[in-house]
Parts: sequence; structure tokens; C-alpha cells
Amino acid sequence: MAMADIATNQTFADATYSPFGWMWRGYYEYFYNNVTRQFWKIPECPTFKYEMDGSVVLITGASSGVGLETARQLLAGADPRILIVTAIDQVDLESMNDELVNIVNKKVENKGARKTEIAPYILHLHSFKSVQAFASQVRNIATELDVVLLNAGMVTAGWEMTEDGIEKSLQVNYISNVMLSLLLLPILKIRSPNNLRSEHVPRITFLASDGHMAAGLPFEYHPTKCAHHSMLEHLGDRGRFTEGTRYPDTKLLILLFSREITKHTEVLVNGVHPGYMNTNLFLSNRNLSMVMNGLFMRNVFARSITDGARCIIHAITVAGEESRGQYLSECAVTEPSTFVRSVDGQHLQRQAFREVLSHLESIKPGLLQEAELDFTTVCL
Ligand SMILES: NC(=O)c1ccc[n+]([C@@H]2O[C@H](COP(=O)([O-])OP(=O)(O)OC[C@H]3O[C@@H](n4cnc5c(N)ncnc54)[C@H](OP(=O)(O)O)[C@@H]3O)[C@@H](O)[C@H]2O)c1
Repeated sequence: MAMADIATNQTFADATYSPFGWMWRGYYEYFYNNVTRQFWKIPECPTFKYEMDGSVVLITGASSGVGLETARQLLAGADPRILIVTAIDQVDLESMNDELVNIVNKKVENKGARKTEIAPYILHLHSFKSVQAFASQVRNIATELDVVLLNAGMVTAGWEMTEDGIEKSLQVNYISNVMLSLLLLPILKIRSPNNLRSEHVPRITFLASDGHMAAGLPFEYHPTKCAHHSMLEHLGDRGRFTEGTRYPDTKLLILLFSREITKHTEVLVNGVHPGYMNTNLFLSNRNLSMVMNGLFMRNVFARSITDGARCIIHAITVAGEESRGQYLSECAVTEPSTFVRSVDGQHLQRQAFREVLSHLESIKPGLLQEAELDFTTVCL
């Protein structure tokens, strides 16, 4: 499988087309990038270039990890009008709400800051019903949105099906995030660039990951060679499931989506890699390399959640038009993997986009129309 690389004009390594070769290629890119980027650079605290006071910001998965830290840093640097945050269960919801309300109250008391309304909701990305219910709640509380940060995600821990009949991490990290972004597009679009209070452009920021470089999908599924089954069918086949590459696959797919949707909307969409961080993300995995990540890498090499959140704050507040459809790392636009930039990567990008939209349209007829996407243009 020779793949022409648009960026470098090199072939995408016939040499790597062996049962082990592709793994080396992906892991090499992944580790090389980690070493050259995150271990030599500590992201500086981004100054809020654009006025975020009075904005409406949504952060999913803000009950722990980098989502919670991003909410803290946002409140430290600005006074949004409403901060919508989500958790999986009631206990997490209450502790997240208590912490964020406390921060706001202290700011109001000490600095006379404008009070931010914290709006906490339960969101289960493993259920389309929950995603749709959450989107309705958001539309009830906010008629317009400035930032949607789709942070919530999980690492694959064995084969698990959701109530919607989809492998869990594929639905949580990819398909539900696509659905949520489409459901929220209309209220992000209300703030068109001509209609802005400030220069800040309304945006959807996806949590991408350098992990996309270690995806298995580019080597296991080729649109023209596997024409008899779709990519979603491929990923939904338990017999073809590989636990170790599923998380990277989901991160590749969400990155491809962020690049393709950019062609169809005026809302700014970008993807951010916060660096390899010391969170609980990898602890649920049973795959040997992931467990090593959890037990060893995490404590030795991982950066702090504070530094990771700085990269996210940059993507949601500071990054401007230059970040449209782009991949951000270390507070700058950065090249994604060789595969993403290759001809085959672009082919897969378009196919994955068509498939996921068709699938979601069959689940919620009229979804594309609501998102003001022309079904015939985007799905042909
Ligand atoms: N850690 C890293 O090195 C790293 C690197 C690159 C990208 N990322 C990305 O950063 C994001 C945040 O990860 P993290 O490192 O902060 O891990 P984390 O601490 O495990 O946070 C993940 C968040 O997502 C929520 N979540 C998990 N499954 C969910 C579901 N089914 N429905 C709704 N919410 C769900 C979690 O809720 P609970 O707390 O209630 O489980 C939690 O709030 C993820 O998208 C991850 O892929 C992380």
C-alpha cells in the first residue's frame, strides 16, 4: 500500500507495509513528536488576547482531569456570563459544581468580578439519547454560544457495546462528539464574524491527541481495497477490534472530522493536543502498552494538567483564523501525522465524514438540515 504524501512528496513507506512495520511508523511519529515538542517546551500561560468576559462557554467532561483544570484557568482569566459544564454522574456533578461556584464566589467577593453562572449537566456520550437531551438543555439556557470545548473522552478498555449498538469508545470519542457539534452549530453560528462583540470567533474545539499518529485504521482499512464494507462496519466488527489502536483510531477520526467540517461551516473548528498529561485517562486500559503508560510513563514523562490546560485555553481563546481546521499543539498550529496529510488520509477524511453524517442522519432524521448542512453536498 504505497501512499503518496502530499506534504513531503514521499511515498508513505512500502517498507512499513508489514505486520509490524506500520506499528513502528505510527509509534515513531508519536514518540518523535512528543519528545521534540512537549519535553523541551513548557507552554507559557496564554494571555487572553480576546475579550472573554460575558461569553458563553461549554466544556464537556469538566468533572476531572484537564477539563476541570481548563474551567479553573478560564475562570481565573475571565468572567464568562455562563459556563456550561458536564459530568457523568450526580456525585461528580455536585463536586464539580461546588468547586466552580466557590471559585466564582471568591472572585466576586475579592475582586468585585461579574458573576458567572455555572450550569452543570449530566452528559453520557455513550448514549445518543443523552447527547440530544443535553443539546436541548443547552439551547434552553443559552441562545448563543462562544466556545464549545468537546473535551470528554475515554481510553478503550476492552470491547463494550453501548445501548446504541456501537463500540463504546468509538461512540464516546467520535460519533457522539460529531452529533453534539452538529446539534450546537446553529447557536454558534448566531455569532457570525459580522455580529461579534469582540474579535473572538465562535468555535468548536475538539480534544485531539498526538495519539492519532499511532492509529491502526490507515493500515487496516483502505477505502478502495475494502469497498465491500464501510469504515464504520469495519470498526463495528468485533473480530477486527484491536484494543491498543482503538483510542488512537478515535482520535484520528475526530481530527479528520474537524478538518472536513471546516469546509462546510463558517464556525471556527480546531483540534488541540494538550500534551501527554498526568491524568487518570489511561488507567482503565488493559492493553500492556497502555498499562505501561499508566504506571510508568505517566509518572516519569507526563506533563502537568496545568500545562496541558494552557494549551487548551490557547485553542479556545487566543487562537484565531489561522487555527481554522487545524491541529494545535504547544499553543501553535502544528502538522498532524503524515497519514492525515497524505492523499489516502484525505480520501479517508471524506469517506469518514460521509459515513458518520449518514449514520447520524439515520438516527436523527433532519439533523443535517438543522445544522444547516446540505445533505446532498456533504454526503455525495
Ligand atoms: N491525558 C492525556 O495525556 C491526553 C493527551 C491527549 C488528549 N487527551 C484528551 O483529553 C481529554 C480529557 O482527558 P483527561 O486526560 O483529562 O482524562 P480524564 O481525567 O479521564 O477526563 C475525561 C473526562 O471525560 C469524561 N467522560 C469519560 N467518559 C465519558 C462518557 N461516556 N460520557 C461523558 N463524559 C465522559 C470523564 O468523566 P468522569 O470523570 O466522570 O469519568 C472526565 O470528565 C480526552 O478527550 C483525552 O482523549 C488526553
